[in-house]
Amino acid sequence: MGGRIAEKDNPLTVMQELYFTQFHEKVSSSKEMEKFYRKVISASGVLDMAERSSRPLTIVDICGGGGRLGHELEKEVKKPINIVNVDISNEQLRIDNGKLKIRGEMMHLPLADKVADVALLINMPNPVRVVENHLERTKPDSIKEIADNYELYCLLADARHCTVKLAVFEGLRILKDNGIMSFGTVYRGPSTYGVEKIDVPLKQVGFEIFGLDLKVAKLWDDYGISVEKPEFFVESFRKIGEVNRSSVTQCRNALRDSLESLSGSKRFWEVIGEMRRAEEAKKKIVGKIDRE
Ligand SMILES: C[S@@+](CC[C@H](N)C(=O)[O-])C[C@H]1O[C@@H](n2cnc3c(N)ncnc32)[C@H](O)[C@@H]1O
Repeated sequence: MGGRIAEKDNPLTVMQELYFTQFHEKVSSSKEMEKFYRKVISASGVLDMAERSSRPLTIVDICGGGGRLGHELEKEVKKPINIVNVDISNEQLRIDNGKLKIRGEMMHLPLADKVADVALLINMPNPVRVVENHLERTKPDSIKEIADNYELYCLLADARHCTVKLAVFEGLRILKDNGIMSFGTVYRGPSTYGVEKIDVPLKQVGFEIFGLDLKVAKLWDDYGISVEKPEFFVESFRKIGEVNRSSVTQCRNALRDSLESLSGSKRFWEVIGEMRRAEEAKKKIVGKIDRE
């Protein structure tokens, strides 16, 4: 995370603290999402890879949460495999009953280079999205507020692009030569993550869009991410080279600069204040309902 800003005032830390929680409880554990995880497995090419391999595959489920995908992999892959779940949340990791769970951050994975045959970034989180989401839902009541929101929106977009890029770079770093990296989530048009626009040694080997039950949209809405149409995608790539170290440094510097700009933005801290107050109010209401 950014170097010159104190950790507690680092916009990324602040946004991460406000990020949506309980994905397992609210979304992934539901029956309606089963088709999604099965599709990720069939479309990612993991089954073929496991079939051809003479040794157990190592699959790293980056931001694997409650381990829903790992659980499905254990059922679908008919050979021994090592699934490593890396997630920032102890609460989510506690739900996972898999063997290998590590607390870690997607832009700084606590794993050595080239350990994984497969790296999965499924329903990849982005802490910046939580503020973008809030901004999209606010109704500005003056031209000045529209202008301030727009300025903040641009700063957030910069920070979001850097975090996605750094997560992809990290995924590539831990991936063996010719390893597979798969992404999948709600389909929001071409370039949902924009991986193909990032200059990385990845070659697309698969892309599939599929629909899920309408009830899925409601689950995601309850989690905090609005889904207009329950359309999802899985996109897979093969690693065809190494990430240039200077690209990583450049991207880390760009993220640090954009976080510094956010840190100096009055509108950013106003929005964070609004979001914190809304969180507090929500907790009070839940507490009151629990007591009744
Ligand atoms: C939308 S859930 C997806 C979970 C899982 N991949 C799935 O599809 O079932 C996002 C997960 O990312 C984790 N997470 C959020 N920010 C993270 C970060 N910066 N680094 C690592 N994990 C993070 C959350 O704790 C959560 O478990």
